Amino acid sequence: MKLWSKGFEPDKMIENFTVGRDRELDLQLARYDVQGSMAHIRMLESIGLLTASELEILLKALDEIAGIIERGEFTIDEGIEDVHSQVEFMLTERLGDVGKKIHSGRSRNDQVLVDLKLFMRDRLKETAAATGRLFDILIEMSDRHRDILMPGYTHLQVAMPSSFGLWFGAYAESLADDMQMLLAAYNIANQNPLGSAAGYGSSFPLDREMTTRLLGFSDLHYNVVAAQMSRGKTERAAAMAIASIASTLGRMAMDVCMWMCQNFAFVSFPDELTTGSSIMPHKKNPDVFEIMRGKCNRFQSIPNEIALLTANLPLGYNRDLQLLKDIIFPAVGEINECLEMASFMLPQMKVRTDILEDTRYDYLFTVEEVNRLVLAGMPFREAYKKVGLEVQEGTYRPVREVKHTHLGSISNLANDRISEKFHKLLEKFV
Ligand code: ARG
Repeated sequence: MKLWSKGFEPDKMIENFTVGRDRELDLQLARYDVQGSMAHIRMLESIGLLTASELEILLKALDEIAGIIERGEFTIDEGIEDVHSQVEFMLTERLGDVGKKIHSGRSRNDQVLVDLKLFMRDRLKETAAATGRLFDILIEMSDRHRDILMPGYTHLQVAMPSSFGLWFGAYAESLADDMQMLLAAYNIANQNPLGSAAGYGSSFPLDREMTTRLLGFSDLHYNVVAAQMSRGKTERAAAMAIASIASTLGRMAMDVCMWMCQNFAFVSFPDELTTGSSIMPHKKNPDVFEIMRGKCNRFQSIPNEIALLTANLPLGYNRDLQLLKDIIFPAVGEINECLEMASFMLPQMKVRTDILEDTRYDYLFTVEEVNRLVLAGMPFREAYKKVGLEVQEGTYRPVREVKHTHLGSISNLANDRISEKFHKLLEKFV
């Protein structure tokens, strides 16, 4: 039985094809669907489309359904298309005609929109919190390892001295940029589309500011067509933010994989955090960081998938939009898993403290030598040439001393300022 049933049932094959994964994925929208319905009926009562007692009956029944959802007992029955239909059927089943009144001035098009906005707002908030936890760990690790030097590379060739303090701090500050994207996505999600109905509004005098207030949105999509257009855009902004975090996390995972390689052996993890091989008895593999890298690379394809799914769709609702859920729902959960896993692994990372004593890293210090000569009065180009010739003739001997004092450098990481920048953004997820 469909909400739109007019005396015939659609072919089973058509039904399965069009419903797709909705019965499973919509379960994640259920609590928001009830929340949206509660705001909608309060508003309907305020404009005289429901009586006070009808409102009370409906709110009570919706509250019961909310309880079923919280207990994990809510399902979308065979033959029912989606969460919106399921909730309305449950109401009608319990309340008869009163249940049938709830959909005045509303369409499933703005209903799914409002569900998605509320859903995305919560998920992005969780991602912000998970990013915040990883950020704090990175800063703490950076502070703790500020004096441990490691080689810095350009072109993957030995370049200049770096440090674990710089490395951890770099990923922390990079996450601060990702937070800007996340906040933008959050702000886009935090607008009320309810009242746009099928995408063109309603002849009822809907009080859209009231539902905005009730649902705690910071603003609303005023223009009803723009509200409908936000389907896809909200998901795309979220996907771009997720991709941005993933680009940071994936790159960090790659560094760790490389440094766990015996050729580098800069870092290691306790045995129980590594994985073995079925044939090679000695193996302690970095599978965690490989899976993280792989997932993060996949996340970065999601904005493109969404762009292609929604490119040049005709204005107004199109069923294609339903498929956005298949793309974005798994991603919003999995990015948090990756963030949590990084937060779990990094504090257990063991770092080698004597890396730079190896002679293969001697040339890391050539620029330090050039700078010493410059400070003694030699013009830079001459000092550069002098040290260059020493390297070429094999007479260069490194002085393993690093004095980088300017803002953001090895001995002046500016972690306090980076933390302040990050936490200012985090506070805006209210
Ligand atoms: N499951 C649908 C979706 O996610 C709900 C909206 C259905 N609207 C419609 N006009 N068929 O898009």
